[in-house]
Amino acid sequence: MGLPADTLRRLLRRARTMADAKPGPGGPERLLAGRIVANLFFEDSTRTRTSFSVAAKRLGAGVVDLMGFASSVSKGETLVDTALNVEALGVDAITVRARQAGVARAIADAVSCPVVNAGDGRHEHPTQGLLDAYALAQAAGRLDSFDLAGLTVAIVGDIASSRVARSAMAGMSTLGAAVVCVGPPGLAPSGLAALGCRVEHDLDAVLPHADAVMMLRMQFERHDDGKDAPRGEARPSGVIASVREFRAGYALTREREARMKPGAFVMHPGPMNRGLEIDGEVADGPRSIILEQVRAGVAVRMAVLAELLGV
Ligand code: CP
Repeated sequence: MGLPADTLRRLLRRARTMADAKPGPGGPERLLAGRIVANLFFEDSTRTRTSFSVAAKRLGAGVVDLMGFASSVSKGETLVDTALNVEALGVDAITVRARQAGVARAIADAVSCPVVNAGDGRHEHPTQGLLDAYALAQAAGRLDSFDLAGLTVAIVGDIASSRVARSAMAGMSTLGAAVVCVGPPGLAPSGLAALGCRVEHDLDAVLPHADAVMMLRMQFERHDDGKDAPRGEARPSGVIASVREFRAGYALTREREARMKPGAFVMHPGPMNRGLEIDGEVADGPRSIILEQVRAGVAVRMAVLAELLGV
């Protein structure tokens, strides 16, 4: 994400204000009255698109949704031209989800209104990183400081494919957490250490020391073409020998959950593949803060939209 700690904390404090706000005078529900937020989603989404829509509506804004498959992109129009045309229709802010890394940046360079990256290929998903930090701070009782110092967060699985991992790593380490990336070498290459984390390949050795374990979805769809790789990065290679082998080494099973540190949390950005990277009983169990992550998304995105629109 690249934002300094004080900027992240300011956004997170604003998100807390949004989460705590009661309806009525002085509340946030008219902050963006008369404004329009356009969600341009050129890749599928459940949580992020709905969450941006709910956030915008809770601030009083109108929302337009444009799905890539139902747009003139299918006739050959570029994503940047699509955004320029949507801006010309009079929208005040654009959120962008795309399969290719760098699309949100390219659109932000072309249009005049604020643009939020809602996930671009394997590159970044900044509001997800913020909501993950918020949910962890909430679970750890640190909403007053948003200081994650002393906490160790293990991010586990298909890290090479994951924009969420990059943004969560950046956000949480900036706020003071120690981040350990864990996976087989094809999915957790040693080069990830350049992003400020430790890289390990033995989950069972890391598990008893982690205060939070964030499991990632196996993104099979990103393993074969490399079109969405961040500039200069190779696509994951060697990936996994088999799902059975991956589960044996890296799935968060009930047996592994039992060996987690007392009080440690289970996280997952979604969508989950129950029975692959995480057992259903673990996802639904007492350590899980997965739905708290989703809930935090609305408050975080309210804060981001309000900041970007200057209210
Ligand atoms: N976490 C996340 O980005 O989920 P969606 O793909 O459903 O938006």
